[in-house]
Amino acid sequence: MSKIVKLEDLEFVEFISAHRIYERIVEMSKDINRDFANKKITILVVMNGAFMFAADLVRFLEFESELHFIRVKSYKGMSSTGKASLELPSDLNLEGKDVLVIEDIVDTGHTMNKVFELLAQMQPKSVKLAAFLSKDECREVDVQIDYLAFNIPDRFVVGYGLDYNGLGRCFKDIYQLRPFVK
Ligand code: IMP
Repeated sequence: MSKIVKLEDLEFVEFISAHRIYERIVEMSKDINRDFANKKITILVVMNGAFMFAADLVRFLEFESELHFIRVKSYKGMSSTGKASLELPSDLNLEGKDVLVIEDIVDTGHTMNKVFELLAQMQPKSVKLAAFLSKDECREVDVQIDYLAFNIPDRFVVGYGLDYNGLGRCFKDIYQLRPFVK
């Protein structure tokens, strides 16, 4: 029997188990460790959605790193014309640094596209992206994801940091919106 959770008016059904997430994160961390061996990396965790993924991923990372939390503030939605700004720690200096951004999900790609644009203004040496989920089929602008846990179909998901109206972030599994049955 699939696990089902109810958030406000919607029902969600279990889609990716905590065990599968754990296995994938261990695999991913090996790729990241290989690419960043002997480097010093500045990790930027995009809040709030990426908090659980980041917490699980970083404990497997073996290179020297500093970690900061950032937040994307968007105005007029996240369309291609929408404006965005980053909330960053006041003392953050990315000039000449190798940066790894950790994000929860890339959907249309507009959010990450803007994040990369804004980070580039801080003149880092390199910026790579580790995303927990991607909905490739929803992409409207190109985003290079260097490390990806799962590509998923175009259906709303919650859990493992992702929310619906602020709810559902704390579930350890990922749940998918249950199709409406008459
Ligand atoms: P994008 O700008 O369309 O790529 O959207 C990225 C942001 O939309 C993510 O950081 C999430 O906050 C949110 N988002 C997109 N799809 C989902 C989903 O299925 N569940 C929860 N949040 C989502």
